[in-house]
Amino acid sequence: MPPFYVTTPIYYVNDAPHIGHAYCTVNADAVARWHRLAGDDVFFLTGTDEHGLKVAQAAQANGMSPKQWTDALAPRFQAAWKDLRISNDDFIRTSEPRHHRTVQRFLEQIHRNGHIVKDTYRGWYCVGCEQYYAEDELVDGSCPVHGRPVEWYEEENYFFRLSAFQERLVDWFEADPERVRPAAKRNEALSFVKGGLQDISITRTSIDWGVPVPWDPSHVFYVWYDALVNYLTAIGYGEDEPRFATWWPAVHHLIGKEIIRFHCVWWPAMCMAAGIDPPAHVQVHGWLLVGGEKMSKSKLNQIAPGDLTSDFGVDAVRYHLLRDTPLGSDGDFSYEGITARYNSDLANNLGNLLARVATVVGSKCAGIGPAPDPHSRLAPVATEVVAEAAGAWAAFQPAAALEATWRLIRETNAELEAAEPWKAEPGPAVDAVLGSALEALRIVALLASPAMPDTAADIWRRLGLAGRPEERRMPADGAWGGYPGGLTVEKGQPLFPRRKG
Ligand code: ME8
Ligand code: MG
Repeated sequence: MPPFYVTTPIYYVNDAPHIGHAYCTVNADAVARWHRLAGDDVFFLTGTDEHGLKVAQAAQANGMSPKQWTDALAPRFQAAWKDLRISNDDFIRTSEPRHHRTVQRFLEQIHRNGHIVKDTYRGWYCVGCEQYYAEDELVDGSCPVHGRPVEWYEEENYFFRLSAFQERLVDWFEADPERVRPAAKRNEALSFVKGGLQDISITRTSIDWGVPVPWDPSHVFYVWYDALVNYLTAIGYGEDEPRFATWWPAVHHLIGKEIIRFHCVWWPAMCMAAGIDPPAHVQVHGWLLVGGEKMSKSKLNQIAPGDLTSDFGVDAVRYHLLRDTPLGSDGDFSYEGITARYNSDLANNLGNLLARVATVVGSKCAGIGPAPDPHSRLAPVATEVVAEAAGAWAAFQPAAALEATWRLIRETNAELEAAEPWKAEPGPAVDAVLGSALEALRIVALLASPAMPDTAADIWRRLGLAGRPEERRMPADGAWGGYPGGLTVEKGQPLFPRRKG
């Protein structure tokens, strides 16, 4: 089974999770679920980024030690992901001893390889970003991401000699244009590299909430420098070589567009400096906006995932996050938007298809689903949709995969409207139409299962099929003709009751 290692960024625990984080995590989850369905050996990692000034300040503002604070906040991310049916194989917290050990080992290796030097840093720092900015990057003297004033810092630090890696990074980008996707983000990162790289300060003496520098314990590592290493900690870097070799460098990092520089410039260079391969693929996504602004823990315009799931249901929220904002674009989040998507795609298309097929199977076939017609007009549509959806899932395009899947749903509804089996006499013609609609629903359940695992399982069960869709293999089990017929079909309650717009 080919290995497939997928990661989300690890989230700062300066506040509770919002649906911007859920957007990233659900996309990673759906892709991981697709790859399991495709028979790959999947390792899916998420977690929390617990060190640094931003978290230490949040702890202080809440009258807690950083340890108490992070111990209180990390479970809120875990609970949010559990609620959203996230299937991560591990959850890493950077305050864990296993992570401290790995950071020290990894950075000691870079130090030994001669890529770390001592110097003094002076510059503008944004605590929100945990990042220095050059004068000309500031917008009206403020951080370009958070819009807040930056602070002047001056420290004696250890520096990573990023500047020495410029050529090797350009080669890394140019050897395979698919390493960073989409292309616009790849070009952005590449032109940043070509514009010349400054060495980066990687340690701090001003705080002690972090991983101690092994060769100089008066310093802790700068939070970004420890955070990126989480991707190695979880797969046994330096501790379990066979395990590490299984997953590295076959990794896919899903990240937001504001952290491109860290993942597409610093991180591959750090890997090169330590003597390991850089990551295979970085997939960049855009932001969920509220009223045109980035939803952000620092801006108090957040919506908690739980507020939406309790209202719309988990699978409807997952579907909306996956379907409405393709990876790479920004998307405006609104209640109107999620309600419209729910009513059109889930209530009217999917829910209605299942309800009408089950009703007519009840009235014309005594509730026993007939076998599909091998020559149905839907057969070639399904074949095409399965191929297109499989390609889109493999290319990190859940929105396109779902769009293709819904084409099969719409074609099946159209086929029913043309044949009107509810008006016809029971017999082979009606059986062929209904059996084909049931078969289309079986294939839809398989294709939609990475996005909506519980709904897919529910459809599967109502069709009379045993087990769960995720126990099947795609694309093989998506071939036309898999529905055996002769199974009891259950109508049940509406899958997605229509909502008032
Ligand atoms: O950057 N829309 O953590 P973070 C979409 N700890 N995605 C959003 C979003 C929004 N409005 N807001 C946040 C950090 N995200 C570091 C990462 S990785 C080694 C360290 C998502 O909590 C997006 O993927 O600020 C972003 O990159 C991620 O949350 C991390 O946010
Ligand atoms: Mg952020």
